[in-house]
Amino acid sequence: MLSNQGRNGGKRKSLHGHWSSRMAFILAVTGSAVGLGNIWKFPYIAGQNGGGAFVLVYLLCVVLIGMPVMMSEILIGRRGRRNPIATMELLGKEEGSSGHWRWVGLIGVLAGILILSYYSVIAGWVLVYIVKSAQGAFVGADSDTVSAIFAGFTGNWLSVTFSHTVFMALTVFVVARGVERGLEQAVRFMVPALLVLMLTLLAYSINSGHFMEGVDFMFTPAWDKLGWGSVLAALGQAFFTLSIGMGAIMAYGAYLPEDTSIMGASGAVVVADTCIAILAGLVIFPLVFANGLDPAEGAGLVFHTLPLAFGKMAGGVIFSTLFFILLAFAAWTSALGLVEPAVAWLVEQFGRTRSQAAVIVGSLIWLAGMGSVLSFNVLADVSFLAGTIFDNVDYLTSNIMLPLGGLLITIFAGWVMCRNSTADELGGAGTTYKMWRVLARFLAPIGILIVLFNAI
Ligand code: TRP
Repeated sequence: MLSNQGRNGGKRKSLHGHWSSRMAFILAVTGSAVGLGNIWKFPYIAGQNGGGAFVLVYLLCVVLIGMPVMMSEILIGRRGRRNPIATMELLGKEEGSSGHWRWVGLIGVLAGILILSYYSVIAGWVLVYIVKSAQGAFVGADSDTVSAIFAGFTGNWLSVTFSHTVFMALTVFVVARGVERGLEQAVRFMVPALLVLMLTLLAYSINSGHFMEGVDFMFTPAWDKLGWGSVLAALGQAFFTLSIGMGAIMAYGAYLPEDTSIMGASGAVVVADTCIAILAGLVIFPLVFANGLDPAEGAGLVFHTLPLAFGKMAGGVIFSTLFFILLAFAAWTSALGLVEPAVAWLVEQFGRTRSQAAVIVGSLIWLAGMGSVLSFNVLADVSFLAGTIFDNVDYLTSNIMLPLGGLLITIFAGWVMCRNSTADELGGAGTTYKMWRVLARFLAPIGILIVLFNAI
C-alpha cells in the first residue's frame, strides 16, 4: 500500500529521541500551550474586543477548529518523525501529492521565529517583575504608581533589551540540552503550581466586590460589538494559545510513542489550556473593575492589574514573586516549543549539533526581537498597518500565518493523506475518527477561510 512505503515495517524513529511516556508528551504539549498566551494575551485581547462575544467565539474556535488542527498536527508529526519541513515533504510525496508541502513547514518555522521574537520581550518583562515583586515595589501601591513603574521600565530600551537577552539565553540553554533532559523537566511541576496560584488569586478576585461585573464582561455577549476583525482575533488567539498552525505540535508529535492516543492527549491539552485562560480572565476582569481601570488598555493589562492586587494582599510580596516566577516558567516552556521546529530542521538538514542549532536560531530571534523591544520606547511613535512593529509582528503571526498554516495542515491531513494513513494514526475508524475527519475536511478549513476572507 502506498501510504506505508518507506516506513521500515511501519515504524520510523526520530533522530532526537522520544518522550519517555505518554504523560511526558502531554506535559510538554501543555507546557507549550500554557504560557503568556493564556495569562497575558487572552485577557488583554478579550478586553480590547469587548469581552463576552469574543470569548464565546474564541471557545467555539478552540473546540471546532483548534482541536481537529491539533490532532492533525500530531498525527502528521508522528507519521513523519522528522522536523516539520522534512515531514511535510516526505508525507507529501508518500501520499502521492507533492514535496512542495514542505512550504507549510517552512512558513511554520518562520512563524515560530517571529512569534518568539516578541514573546521573549514580554517574557523579559515577567523576569523584571519577579525582581520588582521581591523588592516589594508594589506593596500598597495605587494604580498610578503601578502604571508609572511599568512605563518607567518599558520606556527604557536598555532595560528591555537586557531582560529580552536574559530570556533568550535561558531558552537557548534548555533547547541545547535536548528533548528528554531539557524539555521534559521544566513542565513537571510548573503547570500544577501555576494552577494553584491562579486559584489563590481567584479567591482574592471573588472577594474584590466586583466579581460579578468581571463575569458579566466575560460571558455576556454583546453581539452588536463583534465585527469580523474581532472574530479573526478570536481565531488567531485560539491558534496562538494552543500552539498550533506552525508545526510546533508536529515537531513534538514526532517524538511521540506509537501507542499513545492522539485524541486523548489533544483533549487533555485543550481542556487544561482553556481552563487556565478562562481562569486568568476571571482573575483579571474583576480587578479591572474594582480599580476603575480600562479593560481595553492593551498589552500592559496584566502588568497593571495583578501588581495592584498583590500590593493590597497579605503576603503579597511572596505571592507576587511566586506568581511571576511561575509565569516565567510557563513562558519558558512555550519558548522551547517555538524554536523546536527550526532547531530540529537545522540539526537534520544541515548536520548541526543541537547546541549549535540553538545558538544560531536564538541569535536570529534575539535580533528580530529588537524591533519589538524598541516598539515600547524609542520607536513607540512609529505606526503602520496594525500599529507598532510589535503590533504588526503579532498581527501577522497570530492572525494570518497561524490560521493559514492550520488551514493547510488540516487540508493535508483531511484531503491529501489517505484514509488508511490517518485512521492508522488515530487508532481505527470509529466514531471519534469520523468526527475528526468531518471537522478536518470541512468545518475547520471552511471556518478558517470564511473568517480570513471576511476580516481581510
Ligand atoms: N501557546 C503559547 C502561549 O499561549 C504561545 C505559542 C504560540 C507557542 N505558538 C506556539 C508555544 C508554538 C509553543 C509552540 O503562550
